[in-house]
Amino acid sequence: MLRVASDKSITHRAFLLGALAQGTTLVRHPLLAEDTEATLSCLERLGVGIRRQGQDVAITGAALQPAVLDCKNAGTLMRLLMGILATQDFESTLIGDASLIKRPMQRVAEPLRMMGASIDLDAGHAPVRILKPVRESIKYQMPIASAQVKSAIMLAHLGINKACEIQERTLSRDHLERMLPFFGVPVRHDGCSIFMEAAPLGACEIAVPADPSSAAPFIAGALLRAPIELTDVCLNPTRLGFVETLRSMGASITMHDVRQEFGESIGLMRITPSQLTGVRVPASQIPSMIDELMLLALLATQAKGTTVLERVGELRFKESDRLSMMVEILRSMGAKIHCSELDDVVIEGGVPLHGIQMDAKQDHRIAMLGAIANLLVPMELIGADCVAVSYPDFFAHMGMIS
Ligand code: S3P
Repeated sequence: MLRVASDKSITHRAFLLGALAQGTTLVRHPLLAEDTEATLSCLERLGVGIRRQGQDVAITGAALQPAVLDCKNAGTLMRLLMGILATQDFESTLIGDASLIKRPMQRVAEPLRMMGASIDLDAGHAPVRILKPVRESIKYQMPIASAQVKSAIMLAHLGINKACEIQERTLSRDHLERMLPFFGVPVRHDGCSIFMEAAPLGACEIAVPADPSSAAPFIAGALLRAPIELTDVCLNPTRLGFVETLRSMGASITMHDVRQEFGESIGLMRITPSQLTGVRVPASQIPSMIDELMLLALLATQAKGTTVLERVGELRFKESDRLSMMVEILRSMGAKIHCSELDDVVIEGGVPLHGIQMDAKQDHRIAMLGAIANLLVPMELIGADCVAVSYPDFFAHMGMIS
C-alpha cells in the first residue's frame, strides 16, 4: 500500500487562493516539493503570511506588495500568478529557470490584455512584466485546452470582483472550479462552459489528495511487474485519461472506497499486472492524460498491436519538448514509434526494447519515465534528481516496488 506525493495542481491552487482570502486557510498535507515551495516563496515575498505546522501549511491572506518573483521550474505558478498580479496597482516582474523561460506565456497574456492589462513578454516568453492591471471582464473561448490559462483568467476576474464565463472545447483539469466554492465563490459548469460569480474570498480548510500524475509511474510499474494498492488518490475525471485508456487496453485497475472531499473524488486504486492491447486515443481525450502520455507510450511498446495518440503537440510546451524527447528516447531503446506532421504518435507494440543511457534534461516526468523503463531493461539515468520538482520521495517509493 502506497500513498504517492500530494497533488501539485491542487496544492498550487490552495496556496494561491489562501493568499487571496480574508483570514487564515489551513492546507492539509499539501505537496511540499520544489514547484510548490516556489509558490510559498513567491507568496512570502508578496507579503502573505506562511506558517508551517508539521505536514500542513497555514496561509494568511494579505494586501500584496510589489516584488520580483522567481517561479523557478513551475509553469503553473507563473501562469496563475500572472492572473493574480494583473489585478494589482503595482508593476510586477516574473522570472523563471532556463526551462520555464522557453515556455509560451502569450496564451495567458492575450486574454489578460483583452481584459485591459498591459503585459510585456520577451518574444512570447518570460521575463513577464505586468505594467497595467486588468479592468474589464471578458467572455473567453479557449483556443487550447489549458487549465493554467483558464485558471489565470478566473483569478484575474476574482481580483477585480467580476463574474466571468469561459468556454472550453475539451474540459481541462477543473480543480480551481471545484475548490472555489469552499472559499465562498460560486462556480457553475454547463458542459464545457464555466460560469464564475464575483464574491470576496473567505479562508477555509483544504485537504490535498495524492496526485494521479505521481501515481501514474506506479500504475505503469504495477502493470509491468507486481500488484500494488495506491491510497488516497485524487480520482477527478479530468485527470483520469491515463487510467481509463489503460483499462480500455485491458489493464486491471479498480477503484475502491471512493469518497468526496473538498469537491474532489478520492479513493484507493488497485492495479494488477495485465497484458495490454493497442488502442487509438482521440485528440479530445489527450488533455485528461497530458502529463502521463510518455508513460502510456512506453506501455504501448509492450502491448499487442498498434497504439495511436492523436494530436499530442501540446507536449512540446512542457518542462522540456516532451514530444521530441519521448520519440527520441523510445526509438533509441528499439521501439517502433513515429510522429506525423499533425503530431499524431503511432507506436507498434510487442517490440523488444534494450537499455540506454538517458539524460532527464531537468524534466521530472522524463526522469520518472526512465525509472519505469528500468523495470523492463537496464537504464542508465542521468540527472534523475529533478524528480524533486513534484515528488521528492519518488526513488524511495520506487525502492518499495522494485
Ligand atoms: C497544470 C495543467 C497542465 C499540466 C501541468 C499542470 C495545472 O498544463 O500539464 O502539469 O496545474 O493547471 P496546461 O494547462 O498547460 O495544459
